Amino acid sequence: MLSREECISLLNKYVHTPWLMLHMRESEVIMIALAKKFGEEQWKWGLSGLIHDLDFDYVDKDPSRHVIEFDNILKIEGIEIGKDIPQDVYHAIKSHYEEHPQITQKRESKLDYALSASETLSGFLVACALVQPDKKISSVGVESVMKKFKKKDFAKSINRELIYDVEKVGISLEEFIEISLKALSDISDEIGL
Ligand SMILES: [Fe+2]
Repeated sequence: MLSREECISLLNKYVHTPWLMLHMRESEVIMIALAKKFGEEQWKWGLSGLIHDLDFDYVDKDPSRHVIEFDNILKIEGIEIGKDIPQDVYHAIKSHYEEHPQITQKRESKLDYALSASETLSGFLVACALVQPDKKISSVGVESVMKKFKKKDFAKSINRELIYDVEKVGISLEEFIEISLKALSDISDEIGL
């Protein structure tokens, strides 16, 4: 299996946009926190978060090629599914963009739903922090996040349904937000929030 160091090397090679790098790190810590909560394998859930958008700069952020080209990177790098990355991690990464007509993997496992909910919530929580007077994640409360979910004008490009799907993982939305805020606060210096 790929070590975390090898994953970081991959990110350094393929990801050049600072916010994208942070987004994957944020997704990683939320996934690890969720795995901890459910007694799942933390390295595996963390790995899913850490590399889920590996191809996004590679495709110049073109949504029609995003996640499709993930396979190409694996091929270039000689990374084998089932050997270097677990099959279920691969499935979660592909299905996090199941809306793409060429992606056949559908979200079905806990890991699949957790990844798509976590990477979507991470963006939403960053948006919540940025409107705080001090722009700190520690200033964001669960209640205010819940309220912002209902405000259609706030971070309107973020699909709330993907976040609500976390209930299929077996956790309430409130607890998911609480766990995620804590996970992001723990790396606040690193993410500059
Ligand atoms: Fe993402």
